[in-house]
Amino acid sequence: MKPIQVGLLGIGTVGSGTFNVLKRNQEEIQRRAGRGIEITMVADLDVARAKAVVGEGVTVVNDARQIIANPDIDIVIELIGGYGIAKALVMEAIAAGKHVVTANKALLAVHGTEIFAVAQAKGVMVAFEAAVAGGIPIIKALREGLTANQIQWVAGIINGTTNFILSEMRDKGLDFDVVLKEAQRLGYAEADPTFDIEGVDAAHKATIMSAIAFGIPVQFDKAHVEGITQLAAADIRYAEQLDYRIKLLGIAKRAAKGVELRVHPCLVPSKRLIANVEGAMNAVMVQGDAVGTTLYYGKGAGSEPTASAVIADLVDVTRLHTADPLNRVPHLAFQPNAMSDLPVLPMSEVVTSYYLRLRVADEAGVLAKVTGILAGAGISIDAVLQREAEEGVNQTDLIILTHDTREGTMNEALAQMQALPTVLGPITSIRKEELA
Ligand code: HSE
Repeated sequence: MKPIQVGLLGIGTVGSGTFNVLKRNQEEIQRRAGRGIEITMVADLDVARAKAVVGEGVTVVNDARQIIANPDIDIVIELIGGYGIAKALVMEAIAAGKHVVTANKALLAVHGTEIFAVAQAKGVMVAFEAAVAGGIPIIKALREGLTANQIQWVAGIINGTTNFILSEMRDKGLDFDVVLKEAQRLGYAEADPTFDIEGVDAAHKATIMSAIAFGIPVQFDKAHVEGITQLAAADIRYAEQLDYRIKLLGIAKRAAKGVELRVHPCLVPSKRLIANVEGAMNAVMVQGDAVGTTLYYGKGAGSEPTASAVIADLVDVTRLHTADPLNRVPHLAFQPNAMSDLPVLPMSEVVTSYYLRLRVADEAGVLAKVTGILAGAGISIDAVLQREAEEGVNQTDLIILTHDTREGTMNEALAQMQALPTVLGPITSIRKEELA
């Protein structure tokens, strides 16, 4: 059978990796797919660079629409990124009857519902393993491997840049700004790191996982997004003394009245495997009612790790493209007519435990007042750590770990504590997840 023909839009880091791995492992991939898979056309604004990567025998153009217009192309890989031209090209490729493979988490988190509906109507597949956690096959695991389960929660370190920064802050006791500069110098952080450090990239990925885990539409606009820019080295140190580590987690959790969808820094017990995921590595924990807790670990970015996911999608599409569209794996794991309207809960309804750091006057009755406010709000204390006041300074840090409470309740208690004259600076509060 003649090889399936693929057109590649954008041949940067991941595109080059995809081209090279596909070529290097050609024979083995064909044995798996049942048919050859060939990238026969590449579109990139930098034609000379693209030609240098692909060599002879591949048509290189600077206009992606030439690929979409080519009737011989069966699958279009979109590796341009962003919501702009990438969205237009994906929609045009679908309209032209092409299957699409994309690594574009931003596009799917924001416009996925529209894109999947159009693809479904057209009878084509949109595959996106590379959009979440790079080389880790977490989409496959959630959508197929765990299909027997009622998924209870998904919690992941799904941004390598921020995990690298947090690891360095902990290892070296350095502040965020210092480590960010170092990460940029080493190429771990982009020149404009906003999407990573503000939690947006992780929220795109968490949004996609929430949809597949619970059969809800992709709703990035409902996600709570908080990054790591406000984290102080002192909190990482205190957390360590209490046997916790601080990680930026993307969390999708089933609750009684809806789904929690949130990205924020989080204390995690040091003894959990996920707390020991260091540097730029990614890891995702999934809790299912039948399987219990599972953990997936690997490289969340990079040329060949991400190419590994892109090519897995190419193989899936190659195997399934002749199947009746109704018999394929649904884009969001659940049949389109069986999606749930479970709402994404506001943060005030989220239930979690807390780490609190208060700068307080070191005098009689302060602890009693603070704990009195927590008791009054029905918030149970798990642990308290009070540092000895430094020489000549009549104030100290008071660290409190709480048990689970509603965020709305905690916010009211925080406002009362903040108003105490003996609380001398802004209170730091960081959510805590036991991931048990
Ligand atoms: N910038 C991401 C990260 C990789 O740091 O993990 C691509 O999503």
